[in-house]
This record gives sequence, structure tokens and C-alpha cells, in this order.
Amino acid sequence: MTPAPNILVVLAHASLQRSRINRRLALAAAMLPNVTVHDLYDAYPDFDIDIPREQSLLEAADLVVIQHPLQWYSVPSLLKEWFDVVLEHGWAYGEGGNALTGKSYWLVTSTGGTHETYQIEGVHQHPFSSFLPAQEQTARLCGMTWQTPHVFHGANQADETAVSRHIETYIKQLQTYPHWLTNNGT
Ligand SMILES: Cc1cc2nc3c(=O)[nH]c(=O)nc-3n(C[C@H](O)[C@H](O)[C@H](O)COP(=O)(O)O)c2cc1C
Repeated sequence: MTPAPNILVVLAHASLQRSRINRRLALAAAMLPNVTVHDLYDAYPDFDIDIPREQSLLEAADLVVIQHPLQWYSVPSLLKEWFDVVLEHGWAYGEGGNALTGKSYWLVTSTGGTHETYQIEGVHQHPFSSFLPAQEQTARLCGMTWQTPHVFHGANQADETAVSRHIETYIKQLQTYPHWLTNNGT
């Protein structure tokens, strides 16, 4: 029998106790036997990231889920620091930097803005996909396969049915990885 894939959820939420979406996604994911939910703000409240520990967690993973609320069209600051210090030259990219090659990268994020606000004529003046190239290219530069993100818009006004449905889809995808993988040209 093929062993269950190893899934690492790198979770970055600065105030998880106030979260409606990400906290529930993380709690549900953590119930799965082959999923490790790694809460960065809990592990590193002082931003002093243990690089060897992070790199070994990544090396052990088949699927890396990057889970965060969208903040200023980007990632929470500790996650930015995590990218900066963990994805080292010669380890993640560049000469000899093959540690992440072939792993899948799945962005799971939520936005306060609704789907309608992420349109050219909406408040944010760009489709949501316009805010993703930096993260997508980070994954690709590290030889990872970018997967279609799992996004929840309108997080602050969403009703319970929509939240539950989003969590169910997330768990179903975690449970059925790697069957839904797309090649995505990487
Ligand atoms: C500092 C900060 C910046 C934010 N920036 C954005 C943003 O650029 N676009 C957006 O749609 N929502 C933005 N939001 C709203 C969050 O994305 C939203 O509250 C979050 O996704 C809800 O998830 P949660 O219930 O897990 O906290 C921001 C929230 C905070 C606290």
C-alpha cells in the first residue's frame, strides 16, 4: 500500500482567536492523520524563526499548504519573514537549491473583500488573481507545482452555510490529495 502523503499546513494568522475562517480551517485540517498544522504566530511570537526546523518540516512534506488571511493584498508579516529566511539560496533555489523541487504548493487564503470588490470596476480595481503572481512565482522558482488556490471571499460577512461548505471542500481536497493535482506548467 502506498503511504499517505505528508501534508504540511503553514498557517499564518496574527490573531487566530478572533478568526472566523482560518481558525476553523486549521482545526478541521489538524484532525486528519497525515496533516501537520504549523502555526507560525504560535511558534514564533518574537519572529525568531528556527530555520533548520522549518526546512526539515518542508523537506518531509509532499504538499505544502500556505494558509493565511489576505493582508494589504499580501501575506501577514511573519509569513513574509518566513519566506525571506527559510527559502534560502542553495537550499530552495539557485545552485544546489533543490530541496523543494517537485512538491506541491497550495495557497489557502481568505479576503475581507467580496468577489465583486475584486473586479476592475470594484473597490480593489483588479481581479483577485492579480495579487497572486509574487507568491506563485516564489513557488515556481523553488521548483514547486502551484495549485489552484482555495480562496474564501467576503470572510467577514459570510453566512454559516458558506463557511461550512468552504471548510468541507478544503477537507475533501486534503483527503483526496494528490488526485486533484494539476500540472500547471511547472
Ligand atoms: C491588517 C489587515 C489587512 C487586511 N488587508 C486586506 C486586504 O488587502 N484585502 C482584503 O480583502 N481583506 C483584507 N483584510 C481582511 C482579512 O483578509 C479578513 O479579515 C480575513 O481574511 C478573515 O479571515 P479570518 O476570519 O480567518 O480572520 C485585512 C485584515 C487585516 C487585519
